[in-house]
Amino acid sequence: MNNSPIGIYDSGFGGLSVWRELYRALPDESLIYLGDGKNCPYGELDEAAIRNHARNAVECLLAHGCKMIVVACNTATAAAITYLREQYPEVPIVGLEPAVKPACKLSKSKKIAVLATEHLLHSEKFRNTVKQYSEDVEVLSIVGQGFVEAVEAGMENSAETQQMVADVVMPVINQGVDVIVLGCTHYPFLKRVIRSVIGSREIAIIDSGEPVEKRVESLLDRYDMRADDEHESRYEFLTFATEEYRERLRQKAFGWEL
Ligand code: DGL
Repeated sequence: MNNSPIGIYDSGFGGLSVWRELYRALPDESLIYLGDGKNCPYGELDEAAIRNHARNAVECLLAHGCKMIVVACNTATAAAITYLREQYPEVPIVGLEPAVKPACKLSKSKKIAVLATEHLLHSEKFRNTVKQYSEDVEVLSIVGQGFVEAVEAGMENSAETQQMVADVVMPVINQGVDVIVLGCTHYPFLKRVIRSVIGSREIAIIDSGEPVEKRVESLLDRYDMRADDEHESRYEFLTFATEEYRERLRQKAFGWEL
């Protein structure tokens, strides 16, 4: 048993899509969410810069007593997960990967699209994942240009965002994909808009929220780290940006419905 919190980290708001899965599935666990905010977006930064931000984030979460870290950011996972595990071998660290494997299994048209940041799509880790799982499936790698900025600004439902999402998603639909993978944790906040662009076409949208939650559970069991049933869970939000940003994180965490 261990009643210390689980730390969840992202460049900004995106990791709240993972936070929510943990909040729902693990009501006894305390959660500390750190949304960097100051250095966001990470998508066009180089590896050294992302590693540096990720190390600062993990240091901060460990200073707050976290028993486990979830890097709820595909980009930071691609750039820094190996480094973080080397630096903090005593802490279980869970990373995120685009759901390429389940998407390839699901696809009947044998064509899928992965929407993600530029850094992620150019990373060795992503190239290896595609090589390993795609076999007879064609994988279109598409940058969700402007998506992260729209979510950070809380502009998910604006007409401009609708148009921006349509400009990215329509071309992949026209190429015959039947599965769209959200390979960035910010993108689930745009799911409703993506669905409206898809309309009645039979195209699935998948993200990594649920598999990550399952992975966290299995590690809690493996290391006998679950909080006890009597434990009163608490939820804390941290940022390297402003107090206002921190308050927006908290509100988004509890106020967001898909
Ligand atoms: N939420 C992030 C991800 O999963 C990073 C977005 C960004 O900062 O560019 O990739």
